[in-house]
Amino acid sequence: MDIESKINLRTGRRMPVMGLGTWQLTRDTAGTVRHAIDIGYRMIDTASDYGTQPAAGEAIRTSNVPREKLYIVTKIEEIDDAYEASKSYVKEMGLDYADLILIHRPPETGAGEDLWKGLIRARDEGIARDIGVSNYSMSLINELASATGEVPAVNQIEWSPFGHSMAMFSYCRENDIVIQAYSPLTRTDRLDDARLAQLAEKYKKSPAQLLLRWNLQLGTVPIPKANQKPHLEENIDIFDFEISEEDMEIFGSLNERYSALGALPYD
Ligand SMILES: NC(=O)c1ccc[n+]([C@@H]2O[C@H](COP(=O)([O-])OP(=O)(O)OC[C@H]3O[C@@H](n4cnc5c(N)ncnc54)[C@H](OP(=O)(O)O)[C@@H]3O)[C@@H](O)[C@H]2O)c1
Repeated sequence: MDIESKINLRTGRRMPVMGLGTWQLTRDTAGTVRHAIDIGYRMIDTASDYGTQPAAGEAIRTSNVPREKLYIVTKIEEIDDAYEASKSYVKEMGLDYADLILIHRPPETGAGEDLWKGLIRARDEGIARDIGVSNYSMSLINELASATGEVPAVNQIEWSPFGHSMAMFSYCRENDIVIQAYSPLTRTDRLDDARLAQLAEKYKKSPAQLLLRWNLQLGTVPIPKANQKPHLEENIDIFDFEISEEDMEIFGSLNERYSALGALPYD
């Protein structure tokens, strides 16, 4: 496995095994994303409410890497008309299509069936190659799927050794849904955990690298955000070691349903 490796989606298309998050990637956003692409990142995660769509699009358009080798994820909001918003966000990025468009979070009531139908139309018209959800519980995904017959390709959720759920993991496995792991570095909150430091020492890697490698080995797709170049470099230097099965179990035992955002939106 390396930074160019991909994971299969239920639709037959493929997605890079890790990406770059852009929430609060505010320091020269286009330059930073462009640098990330130069050093090997192939997937960029953005959203209209991050304010980073135009810069992410600019970096993709001006990069030396062909568009088809890059993967852009964006999200529509609960208040959007999903179909119209998909068109306008892709246009805002100056691109012909997004690789993946997600419902950013479920609406306060219901599962967001209308949003989902709008995304299905956007996908059918080629505005998005694939569609999925974010911050969805298992029951909300079931609702969308039974209302439309369309199962999301991806559920993007907060996910780290300190906050995850094996019930959600198994559900996604069974339904062929890829988990994209947001805040995979716990927004730095748990990087100084003593048990993590011990494992990092053992593998001669940083705590951040171990958190990301744990995702790769589980088959979940981390999208760490980094403004700083040394962080960008460190976060993709995770393909030259393997966490043992025994230590993967230790990682599992770190789970305390930790959430940088307040609470995990799933059981
Ligand atoms: N769908 C959703 O609702 C949702 C919610 C939250 C996040 N997301 C997505 O997921 C992405 C990642 O999550 P996040 O931004 O919340 O948090 P994160 O990736 O867990 O953490 C980002 C923080 O970690 C620092 N960092 C990065 N690499 C590091 C390293 N090697 N060593 C030490 N510190 C390091 C960054 O610092 P510097 O920036 O200073 O380098 C930044 O302060 C977001 O950017 C966004 O794209 C989605």
